[in-house]
Amino acid sequence: MDLSTNYLGLKLKNPLMPGASPLVDDIDVVRALEDAGASAIVMHSLFEEQITQEQVAEFAHTEGPAESFAEATSYFPAMTDYSLGPERYLRQIERIKETTDLPVIGSLNGVSPGGWSHYAKYIEQAGADALEINVYYVATDPREPGNEVEARTLNILKDVKKSVSIPVAVKLSPFFSSPAHFAMQLDAAGAAGVVLFNRFYQPDIDIEELAATPHLELSRSPELRLRLRWAAILHGNLKGDIAVSGGVHTMEDVIKSIMAGASGVQLVSALLRKGPSHLGYLLAQLRSWMEEHEYASVEQMRGSMSLRKCPDPSAFERANYLKVLQLWKVDAHKREGWPGPVEPRA
Ligand SMILES: Cc1cc2nc3c(=O)[nH]c(=O)nc-3n(C[C@H](O)[C@H](O)[C@H](O)COP(=O)(O)O)c2cc1C
Repeated sequence: MDLSTNYLGLKLKNPLMPGASPLVDDIDVVRALEDAGASAIVMHSLFEEQITQEQVAEFAHTEGPAESFAEATSYFPAMTDYSLGPERYLRQIERIKETTDLPVIGSLNGVSPGGWSHYAKYIEQAGADALEINVYYVATDPREPGNEVEARTLNILKDVKKSVSIPVAVKLSPFFSSPAHFAMQLDAAGAAGVVLFNRFYQPDIDIEELAATPHLELSRSPELRLRLRWAAILHGNLKGDIAVSGGVHTMEDVIKSIMAGASGVQLVSALLRKGPSHLGYLLAQLRSWMEEHEYASVEQMRGSMSLRKCPDPSAFERANYLKVLQLWKVDAHKREGWPGPVEPRA
């Protein structure tokens, strides 16, 4: 049984890897992930704000009066709010490379064009085999048109690609008018892959305190469907690879991701909930499911349910929307009474 996959120019023993998260901060956890069978490690992000803060600190140290430094740095979260600062981040990549045999995918996270993206070079020099860039940008200015938001990410990709020779993937947001077209533009600009998708942490409103409160909830399997749809739409349209990130919890989720077209399947919430050994459990289940269903390789399965190949592509398209809405019959509720069922009633 051949579980191997090619992702970002790397030959990986299987598609399963931990996605960007603090799991990489502890070397024992990284070792446990390797023991469980992870095929690569995605670092959590190094943020533009951390890099800029370090640059401000260096500048203040050499050029500026102490007060202006204090004022400038107060705009940013304290360095200690992040688990690994830029220097320690690079040392952690080196340490993972020394201690394990795992390919390491670095992660850079920022939104503005400019200086911080040169850090990609340091990540490469520290030993990263590939790099993920995450442009976690919330377009809050209603005057900013969509094409400028897209250009921002494209320019960051181009800047980063100028400083490194390792493959660079882009972790995408689902909130583009045409995510598939944008992914193809990134592909044409040399992205070695796209990671579907960024998960935006939505603030809530505290109605008593009149405050917007940040919320980070771990995902559940239903979130995978957004990724499945776009992986299925994109499969066969890109030179680069597709990774799925978001809502992968079970062996079925892994199989669906591959069938939709993913070469890489990233897990975070599932591993934070159940620990590194869950990855091994999923791999064992994947193997026996493939055996039972007579698949010889992951390659054979990849993209078999993509938009181009699946027997009923309308499920990914508008036609599906009409069908799904019609499943709910108000008549049936009236007849049989409320509260209604959780599942549609014909
Ligand atoms: C605690 C935590 C920290 C994360 N840190 C990062 C990060 O540094 N960079 C990044 O690109 N994504 C980060 N993510 C997002 C994950 O990589 C992933 O895309 C998201 O959690 C969806 O996958 P999941 O459903 O498997 O959790 C983080 C997620 C969590 C829960």
